[in-house]
Amino acid sequence: MKSVLILNGPNLNMLGTRQPEIYGSTTMEDIHAACAAKAKALNIALAFEQSNHEGRMIDLLHAARTEHHGVILNAGAYTHTSIALHDAIIAMERPCIELHLSNVHAREEFRHRSMIAPVVVGVIAGFGANGYQLALDAISPLL
Ligand code: DQA
Repeated sequence: MKSVLILNGPNLNMLGTRQPEIYGSTTMEDIHAACAAKAKALNIALAFEQSNHEGRMIDLLHAARTEHHGVILNAGAYTHTSIALHDAIIAMERPCIELHLSNVHAREEFRHRSMIAPVVVGVIAGFGANGYQLALDAISPLL
C-alpha cells in the first residue's frame, strides 16, 4: 500500500482558536480525522504529524525518503524563510505538495514568497481545511 505523510509546521496546532477569520474554526484533530477517512477511501496509508520545530520537520522529511511515497507539507511560516526545508525536500526525492489553508498571495507581501515552491510538484492554497482533501486527491496518482 502506498503511504503519504501530511506534515504541518509551526502554529498549526493552534488551528480552531488561531485567527479563525483567516484559518477557519476547524481544528487539527478535525483535519486529521477527515484526512484519515479520505486516505482510507483512496487506499493510502496515512501518517499525520505537526511540529513547531524546523529541525524536527527536516528529520521527518528525511525519514519520508524511505517510509513514505509522497508528502503533503503545510510548512506554516517556515514556507517563507526556510532554505533548510527547501534542501530537505530535494534530498527526500519524493513528490511533495505545498499546502496552505489561506490564500497567501492575498495576504501580506512577506507571505508571497515561498522558499519551497520551486522544489514541490504543485501548490494548493486558499481552500481552508478542504485543501487537505484536495491535496490527497492530487498526490494519489503521483505515488
Ligand atoms: C499558512 C500560511 C503561512 O503564511 C502562515 O505562516 C501559517 C499558515 C496557511 O496554512 O495558510 O502559519 O501556511
